Amino acid sequence: MRRLAAPLALLLASTACTTMETAPPMANSASDRMVSPILTRPDAVDSATYAKPQIARVTHVALDLALDFDAKRVSGAAELDVLAQPGAEEIVLDSNGLEIARVTDGAGRELQYQIGETIAEGGKGAPLTIALDGAQKLRIEYRAPADADALQWLSPEQTKGGVHPFLFSQGQAILNRTWIPTQDSPGIRQTWEARITAPKPLDVVMSGVRQGEPEDLGDGRRAFKFVMDKPVPPYLIAIAAGDIDFKAIGPRTGVWAEPATLDRAWKEVGDTEDMVVAAEQLYGDYRWGRYDMIVLPPSFPYGGMENPVMTFLTPTFIAGDRSNNGLVAHELAHSWSGNLVTNAVWEDSWLNEGVTSYFENRIVEAVYGRKRAEQEAALSFAAIEETLAEVGMDAPGSALHHEPGADELGSAITYDKGHFFMRTLERTIGRERFDAWLRQWFDNHAFQPATSELIYEDMLANLVSSPAEAQALKLREWIFEPGLPSNVVRPDPAAFAEVDAAVSAYTADGSIPAAYSGWSAAEQMRFLDNIPKTRSAEQLAALDSALGLSDAGNNEILFLWLELGLMNRYEPAVPKAEEFLAEVGRAKFVRPLFQVLWDEGEWGQPIARRIYAKTRDSYHAVARAGVDRIVKAD
Ligand code: BES
Ligand code: ZN
Repeated sequence: MRRLAAPLALLLASTACTTMETAPPMANSASDRMVSPILTRPDAVDSATYAKPQIARVTHVALDLALDFDAKRVSGAAELDVLAQPGAEEIVLDSNGLEIARVTDGAGRELQYQIGETIAEGGKGAPLTIALDGAQKLRIEYRAPADADALQWLSPEQTKGGVHPFLFSQGQAILNRTWIPTQDSPGIRQTWEARITAPKPLDVVMSGVRQGEPEDLGDGRRAFKFVMDKPVPPYLIAIAAGDIDFKAIGPRTGVWAEPATLDRAWKEVGDTEDMVVAAEQLYGDYRWGRYDMIVLPPSFPYGGMENPVMTFLTPTFIAGDRSNNGLVAHELAHSWSGNLVTNAVWEDSWLNEGVTSYFENRIVEAVYGRKRAEQEAALSFAAIEETLAEVGMDAPGSALHHEPGADELGSAITYDKGHFFMRTLERTIGRERFDAWLRQWFDNHAFQPATSELIYEDMLANLVSSPAEAQALKLREWIFEPGLPSNVVRPDPAAFAEVDAAVSAYTADGSIPAAYSGWSAAEQMRFLDNIPKTRSAEQLAALDSALGLSDAGNNEILFLWLELGLMNRYEPAVPKAEEFLAEVGRAKFVRPLFQVLWDEGEWGQPIARRIYAKTRDSYHAVARAGVDRIVKAD
C-alpha cells in the first residue's frame, strides 16, 4: 500500500515532542523561521554528541566572528535560539577546545555555564552545559583555539597566488564543534546566519547565501553577511576566505577560485548547470536556490564536500577533460541525499553517501551517457569486491548500517555497497517505480533526519507491493547484514570488455595496449587497477614510457601509477611521489601513498618519514590524523 502522508515514525516523533514543535514564538522574529523536527526513536540517538535535544535544542545560530590570520583564530560571538521542554533547566552543547568568555541571555543577563571533561578520542570534545534560567536566546562570547581541527589556515606560500593567506573549514563529521559552539549532531537541524569580518582584499564565502555587498569597516577590514534560512545539520556550516574570484556558469550556478585557477576550474565544471537540470528531472526541484562551488587550494582534505549552495572542491579533480566530474555530480546529488534528508547518526552514513553515489551515477548517465555511467558503476562494484575479498564476507563493518564501534571499512561499503543496493532495487523493480519511490523519500523527508530503520519502513510502505517482494529483494539483508546479498545486480561485463581483454593480453605476454591513449579515464583506471601488482623496474619503465603515466594530467591516474611504482620499490617514482605529496593534501591520495611506502619496510619507511617531516604541517587536520596513524617516528 502506498501512503503519501509523512511516515508513521515521524508522526510519532512529532507527537512525542509536541511541546517542542509548537513552542511559543521567541522575542525576535524567530517565529517565521523554519524549525525541523527531531527523531526521538532509539536508532536516532547520536553517540557522537553531548546534546540532549529532547530536553533543549538549538534551532538557530547567529555567528558574529572575526577572522584573525595572524593568530590563526576566529573569535566573536554565537547567538543561539533555544527550543526547550517547559521547565528545562539546562542545555548541552558540543565544544572541542573553545574558549568561552561569557554566556548571557537575550536581555544581557549572565548565565552560568560549565565545560565538562574532554574525550579526546575521535574528537568528541567536551559538553558545554548552560543553565537556561528560562532563557530562549543565548549569547556565547568565545574564541576558537588556534589549532581548531575544522579550520585550515594557509600561508600565502600555500596558495597559487602566493600573496594572500587562505582559510577553509571542513565540518563533517564532528569537526565544527572546534569553531562553533552549538549542538553538533546531524539530527539537530538549525537555520543560521553569520557576519564575518576579514582583512582586505580577501573575499569570504559560506554555505549560505551572501547578503548584499561587503561593508567596508574603514580599518582595513570588511564585513560579509550570510543567511541559511533552511534548517541544516550543523556539519554543513562552512567558510572559506582568500583571494578568490567568481565566474558564472548558468543562471543559478557558478564557481569561485583563486584567480590563477579560476579559468581552468570554470572550464572543468562547465556542465554543472546541465547537471542541476538533470538532477531535478530525476528527483524533484533543487530547493536551495543557487548552486555555486569553490575550488580550494590542494590541501583540501577531500575530493569534495557538499556544503549547501557552495560545494567545496579539491583542485586535483581538474583533468582538462571533465573526466572527474562525477565528483561534481556527487556533491550536487547531496543537495537531496544528505542535505535534504540526512543521516541522524553517523552509523547510517550510507543514507547520505550510498544514496548519493547512486544518484551521482544517474546524473552522469543523463549528462555523459550510459556507457560512461556503466563504466563508473563497474569501478564502484570492483571496489566492493576488492574490500570484501580483503575483510571477508562476514566482517561486521561490511553491513550498510554500522553498529557503533564496528571497524570502518572505508568507502567501499557506505558508498559503493550503498550505491549497488539502490541500483539493485532499480534494476529489479524497474526505473519508473524506483524513481517515484526515491523522489517521494526526498519530498516526504525533506529537511529531516533519517535512519536505516526509517528508510526500511518507508520501503515497506512506499516501494514494495507486498512483504513477499520485500523478502525477495532482501531489503533487511542489504541494510543490516554483512557481505553482499545474492540478488545484487552486477555491472554489465561488456562495460570494460575491451580493457579487460587488454589486461589479459598484457598479463600473458607484456603487450602494452596501443589503444590506451584513446581510452576514457575510467578505462585507463580499470587497466591500471587490474594489471598484476608485482612489476619489475624494467616493466614499470616500459609502461611509463609507452603510456606517459608520470605525466598523466588526471590525478586519479597519476595516483594509481605512483602507488604501483612505490609498492614495487621503483626509484624513479619517488621524486614524483614526493612532489605530489608536497603539493596535494587530499586524504584519499595521501594516506594510501604513505601506506604503501610504510608497507615497504626498510626501503619505504625512511622515505615516508623523510617526506612526511616536510609535508605534515601543510596538511589539514583530517589528512594529518590519517597519516599520523601510518607513519610512526623512529
Ligand atoms: N561528504 C563527503 C565527504 C566526507 C565524508 C567528509 C565523510 C567527511 C566525512 C563527500 O560528499 C564525498 O563523498 N567526497 C568524495 C567524493 C567522491 C566519492 C566522488 C571524496 O572526497 O572523495
Ligand atoms: Zn559524498
